[in-house]
Amino acid sequence: MSHYQNRQWIYARRPETEVGIEHYDLTEQTLDSDQLGDDEILVKARYWSVDPYMRIQQANHTTWEAPHPVGAVQGGGMVGQVIATGSKVSGLAASDWVNAYTGWQEYAVCPSDEAIRLDPDTAPVTTALGVLGMPGRTAYFGLLEAGRPQAGETVVVSGAAGAVGSIVGQIARLKGCRVIGIAGSDAKCTQLVEELGFDAAINYREHPGQADMQQAFARHCPDGIDIYFDNVGGVITDAVMECINLRARIIVCGQISQYSGQLDQPEMGPRFLHRILYARATIQGILSRDYSERHAQMLAAMAPWVKHGDIRYQETFMDGFASLPTALAALFAGANTGKMIVRA
Ligand SMILES: NC(=O)c1ccc[n+]([C@@H]2O[C@H](COP(=O)([O-])OP(=O)(O)OC[C@H]3O[C@@H](n4cnc5c(N)ncnc54)[C@H](OP(=O)(O)O)[C@@H]3O)[C@@H](O)[C@H]2O)c1
Repeated sequence: MSHYQNRQWIYARRPETEVGIEHYDLTEQTLDSDQLGDDEILVKARYWSVDPYMRIQQANHTTWEAPHPVGAVQGGGMVGQVIATGSKVSGLAASDWVNAYTGWQEYAVCPSDEAIRLDPDTAPVTTALGVLGMPGRTAYFGLLEAGRPQAGETVVVSGAAGAVGSIVGQIARLKGCRVIGIAGSDAKCTQLVEELGFDAAINYREHPGQADMQQAFARHCPDGIDIYFDNVGGVITDAVMECINLRARIIVCGQISQYSGQLDQPEMGPRFLHRILYARATIQGILSRDYSERHAQMLAAMAPWVKHGDIRYQETFMDGFASLPTALAALFAGANTGKMIVRA
């Protein structure tokens, strides 16, 4: 029998505004390998996913599911290596790489059928948390099925330098669209255009009000906006609504500008539903888990694109298990380009 000292980040206190390390407790437990059930595996985490939805779930209201329970290990995706397997486990062996939803802890016991085996020769294992994982799936199905992009259309993506947005923009380019990204720094905007092939990018911090943003859209989207893939909400979205074309599709993927308490006390924005009427536009919310069973379909399309460089992905790493809460807070300051990952 082997013992493992397992550090865990416990989600301990609900934030009212920005999330920070003060909302977590760091604890330690001992895991024994003989605790392993016949169908279970013991995994050592190497990489943890850090995602905006974690802040949504910390609010005290039901979303697509109940709030994250206080006093439990912070949930989240993980990539790690198998240490031991139960007697009835087949298809997984010690040192295999796996992806599972085991949360912010250094070791985890999980049912073997809840772990996805990863082949490091096919793609770097961290892509299972980003471009070939949940964010990639969200981008792929969200854009293609809710957005239905046609060649020549203008697509605007907010949160464009992040895990989801950077992939949305590149898929839209592959479909022959003109793509304008919105991001929070000149450096990110330059990368979007020069490295990821966006047609243009707008630094929203240089256009702080709705009127400013509308002017930027008038300059960069002279033919109006056919598809808006919304990751951030707020003023940026208000401005987009004034620029939409006939039969525009608005895809509500995320509203990160509203997660840190604004959803509880929303600031009043302009009423824009008349724009939906005039343009006979559609607004559709999308959720990655609705496409979970079609993950393989996404991989069949995206893995070759990634392999051949048609889609480029970026990852921002923060080091050490201890940095997980800081990494989550950093998402809201725009510290990441592409997928935010903490590595052990
Ligand atoms: N519907 C779904 O199933 C689903 C799945 C995955 C993600 N999402 C949503 O999609 C969005 C992006 O997620 P992601 O995982 O790809 O995260 P991400 O974009 O990699 O990281 C978050 C980014 O949001 C931007 N941001 C933070 N606060 C902002 C604000 N107040 N206004 C404007 N931008 C702000 C920051 O970039 P800047 O430097 O540009 O500010 C930051 O880097 C989030 O809203 C998330 O909740 C939804």
